[in-house]
Amino acid sequence: MTVPFNPIDWSVQPPYLHPAYKSTVRRSPTRTLVPLPQSLSELTGPVYGHSDVGELDHDLTRNAVRTGEPLGERILVNGRLLDDRGHPIPNALVEVWQANAAGRYMHKVDQHAAPLDPNFYGAGRVLTNANGEYQFTTIRPGAYPWGNHHNAWRPSHIHFSVFGTSFLQRLVTQMYFPGDPLIPLDPIYNGIPDEAARQSLISVYDHDLTQPGWALGYRFDIVVCGPYQTPFE
Ligand SMILES: [Fe+2]
Repeated sequence: MTVPFNPIDWSVQPPYLHPAYKSTVRRSPTRTLVPLPQSLSELTGPVYGHSDVGELDHDLTRNAVRTGEPLGERILVNGRLLDDRGHPIPNALVEVWQANAAGRYMHKVDQHAAPLDPNFYGAGRVLTNANGEYQFTTIRPGAYPWGNHHNAWRPSHIHFSVFGTSFLQRLVTQMYFPGDPLIPLDPIYNGIPDEAARQSLISVYDHDLTQPGWALGYRFDIVVCGPYQTPFE
């Protein structure tokens, strides 16, 4: 028995076409979308077991070590995965990818003149626990330039991909850091039409999560579907 999800509030989600974010011009749909009913194929989806996720996969400071520790500011990122009714989603796959401390991805397309870190791959994954909580240990990513417009720089961000319990709970988004001066200048962030929805992408510094002498803590909760769904990015 599957229960339909509360519908998404499209007015707070970024439009497919947002010309200030240049690549949306080419990739946005040119025809009206066809709404699909919430049938079995939408309300179910792949399920991931513990055996698929390795012990160090959640720790980006250790999952790619070759010669020593990665450089940069160590951080903890914690959060909860919530459904359309605010209930936590246990045993769900959360994946992240990000630039290194210098603002460079370990990817051949990224030719930004900043150093790669041989000990930082910039990708991780974890399953939420029984309370729907996840935790990553990582390095705070650096800002990086991109070709969207003159002197364009992305604010520091971590990309998130989430699989809930069904395909309608599939979400790809980005987490930002509080107080980053580049956030108000970012066309991707500004493509979200609703202020509260934009704010929901900025993590919250949490001094209780911060570990003395070790790492700063940030909280980032994600709602995967329904009217309060975290914006797609
Ligand atoms: Fe990025």
